[in-house]
Amino acid sequence: MEERLSQMANNMERSRILSIAAEVRAMIADGQQVAPYTVGDFSPAHFEVPPRFIELMHEALDDGQTNYPPAAGLPELRSALADWMKHRFGLDVGVNGIIVGSGARPVLYAAFRLFLETGDGLAHGVPAWNNHYYVHLNDAVDIPLVGTVESRFLPTAAQLKERISETRVLILNSPLNPTGTCFTSEELGAICDVILEENAKRNGKPVMLIYDQVYSTMTAPEIEHVHPVQVRPKMFEYTVTLDAVSKSLTGTGLRLGWMALPPSLAAPVIALIGHMGAWPARPIQKAAAGIYSDFELLENYFDELDEKIAVRMEILKTKLSKMHPMIEIIQPQGGIYLTVRFNLFEKIGATSNEEIRQWLLNEAGIAVVPFQAFGLEDESGWFRISIGAVGLDDIHASMKRLEAALNC
Ligand SMILES: Cc1ncc(COP(=O)(O)O)c(C=O)c1O
Repeated sequence: MEERLSQMANNMERSRILSIAAEVRAMIADGQQVAPYTVGDFSPAHFEVPPRFIELMHEALDDGQTNYPPAAGLPELRSALADWMKHRFGLDVGVNGIIVGSGARPVLYAAFRLFLETGDGLAHGVPAWNNHYYVHLNDAVDIPLVGTVESRFLPTAAQLKERISETRVLILNSPLNPTGTCFTSEELGAICDVILEENAKRNGKPVMLIYDQVYSTMTAPEIEHVHPVQVRPKMFEYTVTLDAVSKSLTGTGLRLGWMALPPSLAAPVIALIGHMGAWPARPIQKAAAGIYSDFELLENYFDELDEKIAVRMEILKTKLSKMHPMIEIIQPQGGIYLTVRFNLFEKIGATSNEEIRQWLLNEAGIAVVPFQAFGLEDESGWFRISIGAVGLDDIHASMKRLEAALNC
């Protein structure tokens, strides 16, 4: 316990994914052969943002766009995003319902702060990205809804129903980080029904849904991304949607995300983003306004990106599913993640996922993230593979190394 720090700061956990990624970076810098399947990032050598996006940023800089942007975002960007969300997801919050931040994270943090008081219940799926840190940051009561292989690791309506009376906020993410699986409209509709039934009879504050869809434009050909308001229009009043260019345009370092919510709830979010100063830089906002006004450019870009992802997934799926009977995969449906079970406990004499992770890293140069980093404590051999930072050569070479290591 460091006396000078607050309790919140003392108990702050470091991201497990980033610690693993730092270890992997050091090994690569040391000249070792490692395929970095760890971070949910994109290597610009393999995944380019739309070239027009870069041109528009240059133009904005040449035009002297260097002063403060308005706290909610540039009006032309908010308007372009509002139109695009209506066009793509049938979600019509209007220009006043869009608030821009420097990536999905500030608007995600703002969404929690908008609804949660100390001791309120925050329900979330497990495994999932970073929710456990947000439970801590908001001093919330943790309500984990633990996924299973049968549910493709997604939380279900039946699980929510059991905990709904304690829930103030539910956060959902689809396509899901870390599993790359997506809700069907039936599954999402059933979850929305649990919320709507509870809100119809609850006397106190309603259950609010934070819907994180930062991977919504990246789906396998047979999969349709669904939004709560598409499946249950009454959810409009209770839903805050999060999105960003970080994943959809592979611009993780450009830092532009946004929240779409009922406009009547927008004022405190704008104030909070302003207090944090968490605005994206003005040239990036200008450029994004141009890109999100061009639906054709966007759709072409998303199609090309889906193909690049599909090629990588196909190689991994084919190789891994044939390599060893104790390796199994879950069919990827969206995002940039593949869920793999390296059930190698007996084969290598391991007793924990961490030992398997280290074996994969040291014997096969394969860097993956165990599901413990996403809140799933079981030592059951499940891992996340992320394909954003690897080229096809890296994948082929890493699969050969793994095959050789398994045959030793
Ligand atoms: C599900 C999910 N939401 C939000 C984010 C954060 O996005 P950003 O980098 O725009 O803050 C991530 C990043 O990995 C994510 O996976």
